[in-house]
Amino acid sequence: MTTLQITDVMIPDRLGTPEAADFEAAIAVRTAVNAHDSGTNDEARPPEEMLPTWRKQEHEPKRMVLAREGETVLGRGVIEYRLGDAVDTTWLHVEVLPEHRGRGVGRALAEWLLDIATADGKSKAIVYAPSWRVGGARLDAPTGFGDVPADTAETRLLLSLGFRLEQVERGSRLPLPLDRAVLERVRDDAAQAAGPDYRVHRWGDHTPEQWQEDLAHLLTRMSTDAPSAGLDEGEDPWTVERLLEDEQLEAEGPRTGFTAAVEHVPSGRLVAFTTLYAPAELDRPADQEDTIVLREHRGHRLGMLVKAENLLALDELRPGHPAVVTYNAEENRHMLSVNEALGFAPFVYEGAWRKDLEPLR
Ligand SMILES: CC(C)(COP(=O)(O)OP(=O)(O)OC[C@H]1O[C@@H](n2cnc3c(N)ncnc32)[C@H](O)[C@@H]1OP(=O)(O)O)[C@@H](O)C(=O)NCCC(=O)NCCS
Repeated sequence: MTTLQITDVMIPDRLGTPEAADFEAAIAVRTAVNAHDSGTNDEARPPEEMLPTWRKQEHEPKRMVLAREGETVLGRGVIEYRLGDAVDTTWLHVEVLPEHRGRGVGRALAEWLLDIATADGKSKAIVYAPSWRVGGARLDAPTGFGDVPADTAETRLLLSLGFRLEQVERGSRLPLPLDRAVLERVRDDAAQAAGPDYRVHRWGDHTPEQWQEDLAHLLTRMSTDAPSAGLDEGEDPWTVERLLEDEQLEAEGPRTGFTAAVEHVPSGRLVAFTTLYAPAELDRPADQEDTIVLREHRGHRLGMLVKAENLLALDELRPGHPAVVTYNAEENRHMLSVNEALGFAPFVYEGAWRKDLEPLR
């Protein structure tokens, strides 16, 4: 393709202005690609919902590019960075509109992003690529858990660029509403098994001051304690300052947050939490975000306790969403067991791919 142009997308402060046009076009690519590939609108997110994430630049720097031919948008690319131990890593993502696939746009965008990563001195790139095709020849994850199709566009493109499959993630969906009485029983049984040393708390968009320090610690541990196979994603440090900034930016967007957490009563510290985000539109699913039980407090049913408590909160405060969607590593048996017991069922598998980059000479 000789006329392909790739340009940076400016991240606007607000939407609906001429400066925001590229950002809105790039999010429209995301929506169209997801709707086409998944066959549902579950993953459609309006630009207002994406903007807070894109404005989190200080602790989660990222860039977005658009591929065009003349005035026609063909696709987009995303490159994300982290601080802390993962400062040597980038996360890349490429999406090409269905009607423009098979013409070299995906490869051009991927190579563009890899060049940026190399020029930035990064030593590895990671891609999470959803693979929707079921059946046919498969490529096994080296973890021994899960596989992806061996000959679809994303697999071929990533293999040809020198990526290797490290892990498979399972996307699962829990249809709502759940039977409240059943959910309360699940929550009460888990609370009884955990015993009097553990007490549940819940809150909305803003973490109470008393728990901010503990939540920052739990968020940091998310990056090191969740299984990440051979991806070596490294520690992503959270501070109270980052937590408050994150909450401030999210508050400017349309999502509502729900958090349930467990206090270890003898120490007065939080040792487990889970967060759900509900979109503004009631006909869209809620997103299950982070869940963690600190290693030293596992085996007390705290994972089930926080999840059941948070689903009860969602049902009380925002009834009507059709489902909750979550992503977990296929080898994360403890988390999958909790989710399966609640009724989550798989709807997609996602390959987590890694490429080690050659330093520039
Ligand atoms: C994966 C994706 C980006 C490819 O975009 P594209 O513009 O169609 O890709 P290209 O035309 O540049 O082709 C790149 C390679 O993909 C593979 N490919 C493309 N179309 C294919 C098809 N229909 N079947 C099998 N392989 C195919 C080939 O290996 C091709 O290389 P080649 O032409 O040198 O043989 C696109 O399908 C997409 O947007 N998918 C959804 C998002 C996604 O999965 N992203 C993950 C990648 S980061």
